[in-house]
Amino acid sequence: MNHIQNINVKKRKVFLRVDFNVPLDEEGRITDDSRIKAALPTIKHLVQNGAQLIVASHLGRPKGKFNPKMSLKPVQKRLSELLSEEVKMAPDVIGDEVNQMRDELQEGQVLFLENLRFYPGEKENDPSFAQKLAQNVNVYVNDAFGTCHRSHASVTGIPGLVKKKAAGFLIHKELEYLGKAVHSPQKPYVAILGGVKVSDKIPVIDNLSDKADDVLIGGVMAYTFLSALGYGIGRSRVEEDKKEMALQLLEKSKNKNIRIHLPSDHVVAPDSESPAQSQTVNSYPLPSDLMALDIGPQTIKKYSNIISKAKTLFWNGAMGVFEVDAFARGTTEIAKAVAKSPAISIVGGGDSTSALDKAGVTPRIFHVSTGGGASLEFIAKETLPGLEALKEE
Ligand code: 3PG
Repeated sequence: MNHIQNINVKKRKVFLRVDFNVPLDEEGRITDDSRIKAALPTIKHLVQNGAQLIVASHLGRPKGKFNPKMSLKPVQKRLSELLSEEVKMAPDVIGDEVNQMRDELQEGQVLFLENLRFYPGEKENDPSFAQKLAQNVNVYVNDAFGTCHRSHASVTGIPGLVKKKAAGFLIHKELEYLGKAVHSPQKPYVAILGGVKVSDKIPVIDNLSDKADDVLIGGVMAYTFLSALGYGIGRSRVEEDKKEMALQLLEKSKNKNIRIHLPSDHVVAPDSESPAQSQTVNSYPLPSDLMALDIGPQTIKKYSNIISKAKTLFWNGAMGVFEVDAFARGTTEIAKAVAKSPAISIVGGGDSTSALDKAGVTPRIFHVSTGGGASLEFIAKETLPGLEALKEE
C-alpha cells in the first residue's frame, strides 16, 4: 500500500477521505475532536506540498437525506482553527456550485465537502455517485481508518476510478500498532470484549481463538453466552438467534486452549433508568424482574488480575451501561486495569475510549485506535475493504 509521502501532489487535485464522525452535543458542539487531530499530519503534509485539496467525511447516519443537525460545518470550523488557516466549506457534496469551487482551488488550498451520507449513493457505493466525487481528481488519499470497514463510494468506489492512490499517516500508524496484536502478539494475549451485540464479536472471537490466551467478556453480549449455557438471566437482553453460535464458539475455544471468561457476578436493576434500585447478585438465576447492567466486583477483580499478567491487550466495548454512572464502574475499573498493565495495550471503540478519558488514563495506553468497528474487523479479518481498495492492481 502506497504512502502519501511517495506521491507528488503539487498542483494536483487530491481527494482525501477522512473519518470526522465526531460526537456532537445537543447544541451541535464537538465534544471530542481527537479524530480531527489524528488526521492533521496528513492534511498538513498535503497542504504543505501544494495539493489542491478536497476533504470529505461522513457524520452520523443521516440515511441518504440532507439533515442540518448532521452538517459538517462545526467540523470545518474546528479544522480551520486547528490548521490556523481557512478551510472553505462547500454548500453540498456534489453539484455545479461544488464543482466550481473544486475547479477554483489553488495550490495548498482546502475545500471541505458536506456530509457524504446526505446522498444514498455513498452507502450504496453507487458507481455514478463515486464518479461524481472522483471528477477531475488526480490523487485519492484515504486516512479514514475508522471507516475502512465500510464498502462505501468514498472508501472503495473512488479508488477504483483514480489511478494514483495512497494511505495517509493515520492509516499507516493504525496498521503498525494493530499489526502488533494481529501478527505475532507477545503472550499472554488477552482480549477484552464488551458491548451489546454478540453478532459483531463472533468473527473476532473466532479469529482470536488461534492467537489469544484469554478472552474476557462483558457487556450485554455476555448474557447471550450465559443464557445459551442454561443460566437464568432474568430480563437481561439476549440475542436468541445467536445462542447456538455462542455455544459453538465456547466449544471451539476449549479445543484450541483459549479461555473464554464470562461474568460471575452482576449489577442488576429493573432497567437502566432505575439506578436507585440496583443491587449486586452473584448466584443464578438472576431475579426474574431484573436485568444485568454491569459486571460485579468479583468479576472486576478476576478480570483485572488476568489483565495484569498480559503482555498484549486488545479491548473493545463497554462492560455495562457505561453512560449511566451507577452502571459504569465495571468499564471504568477495566480501563484502570488496562492502563496499569505493562502490556502492549490497544483500545478501540467509543465507550472504551471514553472510559479511558473519564478515568484519566488515556496517556498510559500504548495505542488508542480511532476505529471502533474498524479496529474490531481488522482484528477479525486482518484486512479491511478500504485498505484492499488502496492496493495497486
Ligand atoms: C465509526 O464511528 O465507527 C465510523 O465513523 C463508522 O461509522 P458507521 O458505523 O456509522 O459506519
